Amino acid sequence: MKTLDEFVDACEKRYKHNAYVDSLIDYHRNAPDSKEAMIEALYDYLGFDFKGKSMLDLGPGTGESLDVARRRGATITDFININPFEVVYNELKGHRGYCFSYTISPGLSRLPLRKYDFILSKGSLNSDEMNRRTVGLDLFDALMGKLMAFASGVVVICPTFDEGTLVINGARHICQDPQKFKRSFFATTLIDMGFEACIIPGFNEPIARFPFTFIKRLA
Ligand SMILES: C[S@@+](CC[C@H](N)C(=O)[O-])C[C@H]1O[C@@H](n2cnc3c(N)ncnc32)[C@H](O)[C@@H]1O
Repeated sequence: MKTLDEFVDACEKRYKHNAYVDSLIDYHRNAPDSKEAMIEALYDYLGFDFKGKSMLDLGPGTGESLDVARRRGATITDFININPFEVVYNELKGHRGYCFSYTISPGLSRLPLRKYDFILSKGSLNSDEMNRRTVGLDLFDALMGKLMAFASGVVVICPTFDEGTLVINGARHICQDPQKFKRSFFATTLIDMGFEACIIPGFNEPIARFPFTFIKRLA
């Protein structure tokens, strides 16, 4: 399997109607650049210079964050993803993937230790799940402790929420009460660690789904 098109064709033939695969096929066929503007908005807001830098994404989906970082000069674009189809898809684009869950112990302890200049996770960490202290998952403060061992520059966390019954702007995974969320275990863990809660135009979209982006600059 050498090209993205060949891979997506093979997925369509063998695995159509598999939940891990359908949105990937749809994205590749119809809108492969559709999420780049959102990532450009984040990188412009941060003013981060990617030239010669390393990046790690926790849950990059179809990998626009990695594509745009590389286009801006990043030389290492690593990611962790639990979805093996997305791992192959992003590896075919030349990014380096690790296929495991970063929330289920041993989680991030499985990642070879190195420092990354830029770490991102958008729409992947379920803050409601972390706030319930769900059994079987690393507690969020422990997970963040593990993550910070890999950080040497900027860390950006934009969490997702449970799937609810309300639909806002086509999204079901929405934050029911942003102010209450800001006082939650998830948010206070980040704020106590020195993260700032920001709202970034073009990135926190739709705002009901992504009320805050947490940013920490180490360097
Ligand atoms: C909703 S998508 C978000 C994709 C992308 N970051 C974006 O903003 O469009 C969530 C991504 O996180 C991955 N993911 C969710 N939970 C994960 C976990 N515990 N470990 C690794 N990857 C996970 C999913 O496979 C998927 O790629």
